[in-house]
Amino acid sequence: MDERRERERERSKLANDCKLSIGVVNNCRIIPSPLNESMIFILLLFSLLLPLSLSAVTEPSVCDQFEKEFKRIVDQHKDSGFPNSPCRCFDSEKGDGLWIGCTGKSMPLVFDSLKAMPEDKHTDVNKLHVWDSSANIVPKEFLQSFHPSSLIIERSGVSLIRQGTFLPVAFRLRTLALPVNQMKEIDPVLFSELQRLEKLDLSRNKLSALTQYSLSTMKDVTELNLGDNVISSIEDSSFVFLPKLRKLILGGNKIASITKRVYLLPATFKGLSNLEELDLSRNEIRSIDLDAFSDMKQLKWLDLGTNRLSALELRGLTSLQRLLLNNNSIDALKKISLRDLPALNTLSLDRNMLTTLKENDFFELSTSPLLTNLAIAANNISYISPGAFEPIGSSLKVLSLQNNELKSLSLNGRPWMAPLRKLERVLLSGNSINMLKDNELPYSLKHLALDHNKLQKIDVAAFEALRLSHLYLNNNHLHHLPKGTFDPLTNDTLQVIDISFNDWQCLCGEEWLGDWLRENSDKDIAIPRKNGCLSSKSCEVPEAKDDEEHSAWITCIAGILAAVSVLILLVIAWLFMEEGKPPRSLPPNKAYKARGVDSDRLRLINAEHASATAGDELVKRNGSTRKVRFDEK
Ligand SMILES: *[C@@H]1O[C@H](CO)[C@@H](O)[C@H](O)[C@H]1NC(C)=O
Ligand SMILES: *[C@@H]1O[C@H](CO)[C@@H](O)[C@H](O)[C@H]1NC(C)=O
Ligand SMILES: *[C@@H]1O[C@H](CO)[C@@H](O)[C@H](O)[C@H]1NC(C)=O
Repeated sequence: MDERRERERERSKLANDCKLSIGVVNNCRIIPSPLNESMIFILLLFSLLLPLSLSAVTEPSVCDQFEKEFKRIVDQHKDSGFPNSPCRCFDSEKGDGLWIGCTGKSMPLVFDSLKAMPEDKHTDVNKLHVWDSSANIVPKEFLQSFHPSSLIIERSGVSLIRQGTFLPVAFRLRTLALPVNQMKEIDPVLFSELQRLEKLDLSRNKLSALTQYSLSTMKDVTELNLGDNVISSIEDSSFVFLPKLRKLILGGNKIASITKRVYLLPATFKGLSNLEELDLSRNEIRSIDLDAFSDMKQLKWLDLGTNRLSALELRGLTSLQRLLLNNNSIDALKKISLRDLPALNTLSLDRNMLTTLKENDFFELSTSPLLTNLAIAANNISYISPGAFEPIGSSLKVLSLQNNELKSLSLNGRPWMAPLRKLERVLLSGNSINMLKDNELPYSLKHLALDHNKLQKIDVAAFEALRLSHLYLNNNHLHHLPKGTFDPLTNDTLQVIDISFNDWQCLCGEEWLGDWLRENSDKDIAIPRKNGCLSSKSCEVPEAKDDEEHSAWITCIAGILAAVSVLILLVIAWLFMEEGKPPRSLPPNKAYKARGVDSDRLRLINAEHASATAGDELVKRNGSTRKVRFDEK
């Protein structure tokens, strides 16, 4: 009975294999069945032949035809030593249709391959992507037989595209990307051929200047990337012919100044009335005049990070949500005037030279009632006046102050966080704070990062009435906490607490913290090791009886027994690892409370923006370039 089932199973497996690999019909053995052998044979044969016959009827795919042509071209060029075709055809699974990718060969062969395409199939190809090919000059015939809507030529040394090249795709091409090439200028005649162009990427080329003329023929372009060129001069009114532009990237250039509009005189950004995103980061801008951006009523996102700004005045950008001024040379907030920015929600001043935050420094930001994120990390702030945050106290939710020189959370007994009535998250890692006193934290606080400071003392009521979900106190100088300090934290809200890397000392009768940790944290984590005596119950170890004399042979036997048990343990450990299981798994329902996850601490500006080029203190999740000081050695 068992044998029959076994055979039945093998047969059905074989049948499946055969069905799958149409080409290897001969490999399929038929296993004789005691029952209706012939019937199964017929069924099998049928199931094998059906797909075969079907595939004979359907014609080869468009991609197959292309591939065949590519191969033919390569055969013609056999002598020139190209064993493979430079181009391949891909059928995108995302529903974008066919696309052709060419790489690794000199351009003439790429051109020849593309020119030889079967005429009637061209419209099926949506994208043409050429990379790492050496193409100094793109010839006029390049797009003669292909009419993609998206063309990308990158890292191919392109310095010139002949006029007329785009005529065949005049009404089809919507995306043109030429990143990492050698283009020195933008030829307006060439671009005037593209009637439907929406996205243009000329980043990482050699462009050095923009004139009104050079961008005069891109009337439908909505996204323009000119980042990482060497642009040092932008003629006034250069963008006046791009009324639909929504995103403009000029980061990583050598722009030194942005001119303003004086009455009817033109200005750098005149006419960009639909612009939503402007990236001017990594330039050499020292000053921006009032009104420089005043046409941009739709501007939501302005990145002025990594420039040389020491002062700035912005007015009336009614849509601006995010303003980045990180890594500039701002040494006093009174030189920054940000007024009537009613939509502003994120402001980064990371990596400047601020030393104090004084009483009226944020006064003008009271006209930004939506400001929730403020980042002032990596400055040199040692003084914060107790009233400094008052003007933004009713909106701010996230405050980043890590890597400064703060020594205390209050000044003259007045806590400077007190005005921040909505504050949920404060990052104070990497300062020199040595004490956490009662009433220094706003009640709204949920996330407190005080790691990598110099904390020696925490008052017993410091966390009272708080509903913290994340608390980082690791890498401080704490040696003891008064009993009850963590009582407010035992609520359900607590998710993460990290008290590792301190100088914990355990006095008998004062071991509550160790007990608290054991109750409240999962034991299956590395932290006990780093918490020193907190993880051992030293006070409960009974005193050993010292009178008893051990004779030599008892010691010997004990030694042998110990060795044997070590061996057994090793074997068990080995078996355990062989199992391939994680050493210990977490109990399913136990909240994972004690491990400090770096990303919990490092997040600066809310996640919604985290992918952007953003404030440099903003830490990318898998970022290898972590610039903040508070990760463990
Ligand atoms: C800050 O700006 C300097 C130049 O001013 C640059 O070298 C440095 O890389 C920038 N730092 C960051 C983190 O962007
Ligand atoms: C930070 O500010 C203090 C004065 O508050 C000054 O002595 C120190 O040199 C500054 N450090 C840096 C790196 O600018
Ligand atoms: C614990 O949190 C709940 C809400 O999640 C709250 O109602 C309760 O009062 C809290 N208990 C303590 C002891 O704080």
